[in-house]
Amino acid sequence: MDPLDFIIWLAREAGTLLADRLDGPRDIALKNRGDLVTDADRASEALIVERIHANFPGAAILGEEGGVYSGTTDERFVVDPLDGTTNYAHRYPIFCVSIGYERAGVLEAGAVYGPALGELYAARRGGGATLNGKPITVSPIRTVEDALVCTGFVTAHYERNVANFNKLSATAQSVRRDGSAALDLAFVAAGRFEAFWEWDLKPWDMAAGAVIVEAAGGTVSAIDGTPLDIATGSILATNGATHTEMLGLLD
Ligand code: IPD
Ligand code: CA
Ligand code: CA
Repeated sequence: MDPLDFIIWLAREAGTLLADRLDGPRDIALKNRGDLVTDADRASEALIVERIHANFPGAAILGEEGGVYSGTTDERFVVDPLDGTTNYAHRYPIFCVSIGYERAGVLEAGAVYGPALGELYAARRGGGATLNGKPITVSPIRTVEDALVCTGFVTAHYERNVANFNKLSATAQSVRRDGSAALDLAFVAAGRFEAFWEWDLKPWDMAAGAVIVEAAGGTVSAIDGTPLDIATGSILATNGATHTEMLGLLD
């Protein structure tokens, strides 16, 4: 099966599992302060891992909830079975499944599915990005002054990012902290946010969204302007036109 078709199908299937459990009884545990895991994260990842083993038996897997397997081919799936777990725990509808597909260490395709939004974002590197099968492109806005930007917080860089949040609140049209890095990236691709930045993300938060932003005509880098490396955790994703200005604003 074509890898992009496969991850689109798989993101939909796992997202449907999340949606089916949204209003049911919860089993919520705290991994660290502000870092939750639910029975739904684990069930979604188990389903995804089983389907990858069945359809791409030689592929490696990097999944957030312990689904880490080495492969026998140069393919790897990078999986967040539930991105936006805190939102999910509160039934705030900004959560998704995020699946990136790599070949020989290069991100080739991504799929992000937000079941409560009914939105499936997908892209192939070098191809166009789509939302529910229809082409999407980044926003044409050229200045941060006119931009809606978004960030995410983790404890490691909390004070530093509060300073950036304050600075962007004074500079941009407005700032959001929406709680799902993969959807935040997808929203840049769809032209809703002009920019998104965060430190200390994990590969599974970024892999799919980074491909989708680039395929939609946007720019991704680390926050210091160096090329994106999903292993390092730092990302600035923009519509391209605001990238240099955002790099100058973020400390
Ligand atoms: C988190 C979300 C959040 C971001 C955190 C991530 P999770 O992922 O993407 O927006 O700020 O850094 O860890 O834990 O909900 O999968
Ligand atoms: Ca995540
Ligand atoms: Ca997660």
